[in-house]
Amino acid sequence: MEGMQPIALSAPWFDEEEAARVGSALAGRVAGNGPFGQRVEARLQEMLGAPRVLLTTSCTHALELALLALGVGPGQEVICPSFTFVSTANAILRVGARPVFADIEESSLGLDPRDVERRLSPRTAALLPVHYAGVAPDMDALGTLARARGLRVVEDAAQGLAASWRGRALGTLGDGGCFSFHETKNVTCGEGGALALMDAELAQRAEIIREKGTNRSAFLRGEVDKYTWVSEGSSYVLSDVLAALLDAQLDKLAEIPVRRARVVARYREELAGWADRHGLRLPAELPDRRDNHHLFYLLYPDQPRRDRALQLLKSCGVMAAFHYVPLHSAPHARAVGLDREPLPVTDRVAGTLVRLPLHPLLSDLDVQRVVDAVRRTLP
Ligand SMILES: Cc1ncc(COP(=O)(O)O)c(C=O)c1O
Repeated sequence: MEGMQPIALSAPWFDEEEAARVGSALAGRVAGNGPFGQRVEARLQEMLGAPRVLLTTSCTHALELALLALGVGPGQEVICPSFTFVSTANAILRVGARPVFADIEESSLGLDPRDVERRLSPRTAALLPVHYAGVAPDMDALGTLARARGLRVVEDAAQGLAASWRGRALGTLGDGGCFSFHETKNVTCGEGGALALMDAELAQRAEIIREKGTNRSAFLRGEVDKYTWVSEGSSYVLSDVLAALLDAQLDKLAEIPVRRARVVARYREELAGWADRHGLRLPAELPDRRDNHHLFYLLYPDQPRRDRALQLLKSCGVMAAFHYVPLHSAPHARAVGLDREPLPVTDRVAGTLVRLPLHPLLSDLDVQRVVDAVRRTLP
């Protein structure tokens, strides 16, 4: 391994197309809601089958924007997983509501509807499921719970672009779907996000909040002759420079999953027998869900073996990683009193999970190096 380049966990796939598209944006308008932004929003609407998509500065901001537009705020609770990135809970806190953590299902590593039901209260205003690794939890069961109690559903589809649940695109199954275009995601512009909205009135509220509380979007469409301050708002619009980069990335949308799927197929083929023999689990293959090969992970039999595996992989130049420090056990949860309930599946998964390198630039040789190193973690 001496002298060999480390194998990155994730990497964006950029070429001259992205550079050319950014060049065109630089030659024109660079603020938000410009020609590239509008073009990318239309492409995403078409692809997702969503009536309105708003590009945002990040998925974190898309989550905040969705909750603000839905009027979720102080005195209300939002149920979300603890097995997620910090943004899910931060967005709830930022609008003044309280996150309530529920446990996850073994199969999808997403919200467990039975545990969600146990945590409902008269203050519950919304459910916020996360599509971990581009795999939806049981959205029918969560939808039934939400409808029966008049709750809103906001999907954290940060990892879910181009994946589906029973034939429907992730991010279009609730009131609002939030996507990330962060550097680590399948499609990226460095930092960026999008909010898909299924309801026209909600979309109108969201586009006003996104544009500093003004009706600038209506003005740009020629619906009003000047724009003005019409409500409280913030600034969540993506620059057209980044929208141009996204436009070039969307051209690669057919090829990106093919390349990623090839790596995943090799991992499964090479590691399934070994995993069986050593009591590890690979991601479940769920027939009613089409994922986007965003992540590939192994669940080790216990935490000490997982921790040793991470160290060994690092020493072999394989940049594997864990996911996540569960939010209910993080310092900020303790500081704001969110750490009361034990979440057994969350704790076990977070203590045993290893993500393997997965991106479109991995060569066959890289994949073989990863496989060989992984096998050495439990010989
Ligand atoms: C599940 C989840 N939610 C939210 C985010 C936040 O996305 P962004 O970095 O675009 O704000 C991420 C990004 O890593 C994520 O994985």
